[in-house]
Amino acid sequence: MSMTDQPLRADRDPAGLTLWVTGGAGFIGSNFIHRHIAAHSETRFIVVDCLTYAGNPANLAGVDDLPNFAFRRLDIGDAAAVDAAADEDRPDWIIHFAAESHVDRSIHGPAAFVRTNVVGTFNLLETARRLWGQAGGHFHHVSTDEVYGSLGDSGLFYETTPYDPSSPYSATKAASDHLVRAHHRTYGLPVTITNCSNNYGPRHYPEKLIPLMILNCLNRKPLPVYGQGLNVRDWLFVDDHCDAIWEVACRGRIGETYNIGGDCELRNIDVLHRLIRVVAEETNAAVSKLEDLITFVPDRPGHDLRYAMDFSKLHHELGWSPKETFESGLRKTVQWYLANPEWVADIQSGEYRNWVDRQYGGRVKP
Ligand code: NAD
Ligand code: DAU
Repeated sequence: MSMTDQPLRADRDPAGLTLWVTGGAGFIGSNFIHRHIAAHSETRFIVVDCLTYAGNPANLAGVDDLPNFAFRRLDIGDAAAVDAAADEDRPDWIIHFAAESHVDRSIHGPAAFVRTNVVGTFNLLETARRLWGQAGGHFHHVSTDEVYGSLGDSGLFYETTPYDPSSPYSATKAASDHLVRAHHRTYGLPVTITNCSNNYGPRHYPEKLIPLMILNCLNRKPLPVYGQGLNVRDWLFVDDHCDAIWEVACRGRIGETYNIGGDCELRNIDVLHRLIRVVAEETNAAVSKLEDLITFVPDRPGHDLRYAMDFSKLHHELGWSPKETFESGLRKTVQWYLANPEWVADIQSGEYRNWVDRQYGGRVKP
């Protein structure tokens, strides 16, 4: 049977199964656990994470005491360790979030991206192949719109758009997507892939645009905009992404790729103006004082101009569309950062500070 002959809505029920959620201590992975674990008490969720600077056990507070939750500290770059852990846990499904995820870090140090995103994904695929053989199992791979490269002023990315990654990050995610597809076509591994646009929401590590700008507004620090702030991203609230992943993992067609997007294209400078307004309203601050913090800094090398997703396949086959608007999602996000000063303080006292000094030290004068 060719992949396009596969039946639509191939339901897979995770009740009674064990899921490995790799990268489940990071931003999207932890939100995925918060979003789905309580409603699926008959499914065992094992977070598999080595806890890099971006992995934070505090992201799992409130769910880590549930009886169907477990945590396994594991580096997916270590093939033998992945194999041994899989033999103990016997996961039925692997939902694969773990990655080095920050484009700017990939420019400073690409090696870690090759190791985790390419070798780590390969290790998981090989373990899954050995564990599951021809019988069952499911591997869902979480990927990004950045594999498609950059759009001009018009057009959209489709699942059929040729890959054209610009950064070491997106090149390694592209490589991982190819490996996942190859394991399906060559070995029959049951896989699905999603490629999603920019997420924002609670527990987002403050090296990325939206959480960085929220915290710098709150701390009255410069708001560093790359170039002229004209680059366009398509924003999606993280819960919407987590729902889409769940739908595709349970009902997506095996071997298929689904684009996920927010239908919310914004220039970076416009994101910032809207964010400033929400922070000002939530903290009784003057908009003009926050606007004064905007600081244009040299552009990111190889900076993709524009991303925009066609997600009609996901919408038509599985009925998914984003629920949150940018306005409501952004307000929830700002409120979460205001309500969680301890989470913020713990991050700012550690690795985050070192990164900010390396990335912006010579360019933004506080
Ligand atoms: P994140 O950086 O917040 O979290 C990554 C997690 O992976 C961390 O918990 C980290 O400890 C873990 N990890 C890293 N290397 C590991 C290793 N070698 N072994 C085990 N664990 C390891 O990332 P995120 O923003 O939550 O992204 C999750 C996934 O979603 C990634 O695959 C990313 O490419 C994809 N994605 C992200 C976005 C976005 O806007 N953030 C959009 C589309 C797709
Ligand atoms: O598109 C999906 C991707 O979105 C994910 O695959 C990545 O994991 C995720 O990090 C994100 O990548 P981006 O590079 O788009 O996100 P980032 O938040 O780093 O930057 C968003 C835009 O804002 C981008 O055009 C660069 C710009 N920017 C970013 C930072 C950190 C600034 O202008 N100033 C900044 O300080």
